[in-house]
Amino acid sequence: MNKGPVRVSAEEAAMNRMFLAAMKDGRIERYIKRHSMQARITHGVTSICCILLCISGLFVFVPALAAAVGPDAVFAMRMSHRIIGIVFVAVPLASAVLAPRGVAHIFKNLFARWDSDDKKWMALFFPYLFLAKWIHMPDQHEVKSGQRFADGMLWFCGALMGITGVLLLLGTTIVDLGATAHGAILFLHDLGFLLVAIFAMAHIFLGSGIFQPYRGTYKLMFGNGMVSESDALYHWGHWARAEIASGDNVVEVKHA
Ligand code: HEM
Ligand code: HEM
Repeated sequence: MNKGPVRVSAEEAAMNRMFLAAMKDGRIERYIKRHSMQARITHGVTSICCILLCISGLFVFVPALAAAVGPDAVFAMRMSHRIIGIVFVAVPLASAVLAPRGVAHIFKNLFARWDSDDKKWMALFFPYLFLAKWIHMPDQHEVKSGQRFADGMLWFCGALMGITGVLLLLGTTIVDLGATAHGAILFLHDLGFLLVAIFAMAHIFLGSGIFQPYRGTYKLMFGNGMVSESDALYHWGHWARAEIASGDNVVEVKHA
């Protein structure tokens, strides 16, 4: 049934006029700020350290690799492992001291209770990997349910590697931990290495955007930290709508 012309309030009419004028002037794209500069620098330094630590650790861990490169190269790897290890621990700690509220925000997200959309998203995730074009994923909060688990594991592994690494460093330089304790810590360090390798590989696969729906995602951490409004709505619908409504982190970019 036709109810006549659509009624538009004066406020909406003004917004529509502004929108049309902006479209005439040039194309305006809206982005949402997702990661601060400090978060991006901390992530960049720790992720590069983590990859270098995996490589140098491998040369200590696998005798065949150590034999292939010779004792001098192994010595250089061991020393670099210790120095890069200190950077891997010190940078996130310094960042946490500088931005404790940022840390609280991350952990609040990681431990957020899973709602029905979160459960549905996780149930659909594996089919989605192969059938992304045909599967509509439910809206997500700031950190997706599966992402909360995967990021949580990276945080756990990072802490485990940091603590056991520092103990190994101290145990081989200024403190005598005893053979049993040293063996146990080394075992935990090796176990952590295995977990890091698994979760970091999955994380890098998705985060770098090799998988089509995540194309360009790397820019969130290795670019300007912003996500386009449409990508934000596609990946994190609940979060994006709340951000758009508040407008605090919305940035408009005008393209000529
Ligand atoms: C993602 C982080 C890390 C990875 C993947 C990693 C990996 C490894 C691996 C595979 C080994 C060889 C263990 C073995 O021989 O059984 C090792 C040894 C060691 N790691 Fe790490 N590690 C990491 C972080 C750290 C950190 C943060 C530190 C210290 C601050 C550290 C200090 C050491 C030390 C002292 C050793 C003994 C090696 C030696 O004898 O020179 N590691 N690490
Ligand atoms: C070098 C390849 C890597 C790429 C392309 C990458 C990409 C990303 C991206 C895009 C995000 C943001 C996701 C989002 O906004 O929802 C992120 C977050 C994260 N990454 Fe990576 N990453 C890499 C390596 C690593 C490594 C090696 C680690 C392990 C130490 C790591 C640990 C994390 C953590 C813990 C977060 C969550 C940070 C937060 O909650 O603010 N990343 N990564």
